[in-house]
Amino acid sequence: MNLFVKKPIGQIIAASEGGEYTLNRSLGPWSLISLGIGAIIGAGLFSLTGMAAAENAGPAVVLAFVVAAIGCAFAGMCYSELAAMIPVAGSAYTYTYATMGELIAWIIGWDLVLEYAVASSVVAVSWSNYVASFLSDFGIHLDPRFVACSFDKVTMPDGSVVNGIINIPAMIIIVLISLLLMIGIKESSTVNSIIVVIKLAVVLTFVAVGFQYIKPENYVPFIPENTGKFGEFGISGIMRAAAIIFFAYIGFDTVSTAAQETRNPHKDVPMGILGSLALCTILYIAFAIVLTGMVKYTGLGGAAPVATAINMLPDQYHWLQIMIKMGIVAGFTSVILVMLLGQSRIFYSMSRDGLLPKLFSDIHPTWRTPWRSNLLFMFFVSFFAGFFPISKLGHMTSIGTLLAFVIVCAGVMVLRYTQPLLPRPYRAPCFPLFPFLGIIVCLAMMTSLDAETWARLIIWLAVGLIIYFTYSRFHSKLNK
Ligand code: ALA
Repeated sequence: MNLFVKKPIGQIIAASEGGEYTLNRSLGPWSLISLGIGAIIGAGLFSLTGMAAAENAGPAVVLAFVVAAIGCAFAGMCYSELAAMIPVAGSAYTYTYATMGELIAWIIGWDLVLEYAVASSVVAVSWSNYVASFLSDFGIHLDPRFVACSFDKVTMPDGSVVNGIINIPAMIIIVLISLLLMIGIKESSTVNSIIVVIKLAVVLTFVAVGFQYIKPENYVPFIPENTGKFGEFGISGIMRAAAIIFFAYIGFDTVSTAAQETRNPHKDVPMGILGSLALCTILYIAFAIVLTGMVKYTGLGGAAPVATAINMLPDQYHWLQIMIKMGIVAGFTSVILVMLLGQSRIFYSMSRDGLLPKLFSDIHPTWRTPWRSNLLFMFFVSFFAGFFPISKLGHMTSIGTLLAFVIVCAGVMVLRYTQPLLPRPYRAPCFPLFPFLGIIVCLAMMTSLDAETWARLIIWLAVGLIIYFTYSRFHSKLNK
């Protein structure tokens, strides 16, 4: 049995077209850009920007956004090249199968669970907190014990501190979104597009209003002096902040998992990936400039930095507070939607290759979605969001995604050398410099993450290897 057997690209594409029931090709370029934005703007922007400014970079968090965007742009171009060439649902997993062989492909497919399923759980838990706070603005107070898992402490209305029981809102949102995903890609994409309009409107309104209340003295010092510790201000602080807010950019790559459901993937998928990334980069930089200009960075450390900024505005802007919360809730909803979509599509491809049980690739005859897979993830993801303190695992999503980016950039290099003549509808520019820089910048961000996150990644991958050597390698269709 060959652990590094590679799947020929022609065979991958032919297999994606065949079968009794296939995925539904209904998405166009705007749906893809909207899917990208849907996955990108979320918890990262609204919560991490303030924290990274207060603890790591000061106003230079703006530069951290630029550094992370550069890393993402290199990776985005590499994703675009491969996705346009091999437009199938498996994304990074399938590209790796074609370039580095089965074992590495399995590792990436397994690693992507950290990006998609874990991120969905993490964001669902944040979503539940914002929904509870949003409802309480309208006089509806949820019992805090039912908005937190039993590992978390909550404060009751009488001031007593008790353990949570179960996070019901987080579970509900996962169930609702999973049901939507089962019903159809077109329906899911329409709901996503509506949500994206709402959150774009909220971000733009914040930038437009906040811009008028910037105090230039808040930008001084722009790069606060390093405290003597790595990652606390100075240049190392900007790098650490870039690794933290990298989370805010995660999601543009998810567009590539929808390639098999796109009418004209060769042109539209690169547009979806690079378009959503470019738009969000501009918005993020504007957002960071306004936020750190309104509030001195030392005051942005709380759980709700955007609320701190809005509180500094005159009373007439009270509505903005409510609008921002609405934008956040909407934003998180679409992140969960697109992440769960990506998760089911990756496992769909792995299952078609025999590396996972067949149920992950069963397509519903009418809905044309991998509905059993959606159903299974609905149970798992909602279970974790409801019962475990999953919110601490956000960094695992970042490290898992960065690893996938490194492998995708390397995959572009491998294929350009091994199969230079294959038709490439989109080519990453400045080869081999850009893919190489993509690897370097993503590795630099990975090394800026803490040791505990690395340890968790290694344990996760070890579990994956056990599954591969006990199940997948014996069921691999290619190896048979
Ligand atoms: N980029 C997504 C977010 O910030 C994961 O929530």
